[in-house]
Amino acid sequence: MKKKWVSMASLLVGVTMLGSLVAGCGGATSSNSKEIKIGANFEMTGGIANFGNQTVNGIKLAFKEANANGGVLGKQLTLVVADNKSEPSEAANAITKLITQDKVKAVLGPVSSSNVLATTQIAQDNKVPVITATATNPKVTFDNGQVKSQIFRGCFIDPFQGTVMANFAAKSLKAKTAAIYVDNSSDYSKGLAQFFEESFVKNGGTIVAKEAFLQKDQDFKATLTKIKATNPEVIFIPAYYEEVGKIAKQARELGITQALLGTDGWDDPKLVEIAGAAALNNGFFSNHYSPQDTDPNVVKFVEAYKKEYGQEPSALAALGYDSALMLIDAIKRAGSDDPAKIRDALEQTKGLQVSTGIISLDANHNPIKSAVVIEMKDGKQVFKEKINP
Ligand code: PHE
Repeated sequence: MKKKWVSMASLLVGVTMLGSLVAGCGGATSSNSKEIKIGANFEMTGGIANFGNQTVNGIKLAFKEANANGGVLGKQLTLVVADNKSEPSEAANAITKLITQDKVKAVLGPVSSSNVLATTQIAQDNKVPVITATATNPKVTFDNGQVKSQIFRGCFIDPFQGTVMANFAAKSLKAKTAAIYVDNSSDYSKGLAQFFEESFVKNGGTIVAKEAFLQKDQDFKATLTKIKATNPEVIFIPAYYEEVGKIAKQARELGITQALLGTDGWDDPKLVEIAGAAALNNGFFSNHYSPQDTDPNVVKFVEAYKKEYGQEPSALAALGYDSALMLIDAIKRAGSDDPAKIRDALEQTKGLQVSTGIISLDANHNPIKSAVVIEMKDGKQVFKEKINP
């Protein structure tokens, strides 16, 4: 009996070794391999690591579901994750490694506009398609009067997001004056500051102060004091949770009681941890989706995500999931995992139902999608309104 087990075990080892030899022979990147390798260029560590990790979780869930259903074109999707450390130069290194060493067929990510912008020329030169789930700056897909042929996105863009918050300030909060506090190290923040200003002024409002800070700054009190002196009715802070958390805390310490307005970069539980729940009251931000939305596509995704990870998905997780669905849809329609064919199919994305809406890409590779406004109430996100473009 014992002997039988031993020989069974050695047989198994032999078979497994043979299996890996065969796989090795085929070459993991050959076109007839049983897998399709997709690169993930994400902020796994550094300033916006929570964003990167949540987006990757969303992508992994979509890949898992697709693979469980027999894969795509009969092949299994594998995700090769490269950490860009939340830095543009590292994002460029990460995409180079994914393309040249890992030989991926397409790249998902990064999250932030600045990090994606650091990779678009490399994708163009190597002719490998990129989908960013989350980067909202218009220049990501379109610059110098030209659409970037390899770059696609799954989210709305900042001229819309800036308008949503300017209209919210002018119409819902009836504000006539606003201050803008911009992160000068971020393309995302600088773009939004401009788009908000344009729309707010169009609504008859006045911008009474414009101040700037940089990522990793710790002390915001000097500039906040200048803003306070102009007595704006609202302060617009289009930035990421680390800095916004500190800004909100210090603003309230200085006795600034006005409404603080923000954008998708606010969407992380760490915002509340850093600022404290009370500092964020009278705080509102725009986002891509709310887990409290009763739309059946949202409900279905939220349930699947909670089952997988035991927590509520942020907008990043939802957008990550949706970007994977965009890619899967394109590979299926292409009938091939050849990067050039995936690119052509991506460009034709039409009427694709995803958790955060329906994706039809326009000529500039952007979908038209609705936004939500979220109110922060005692540390909780409360879904206020949905705004259609
Ligand atoms: N829109 C942000 C950017 O372009 C990234 C982001 C998306 C952050 C969604 C949070 C939620 O940099």
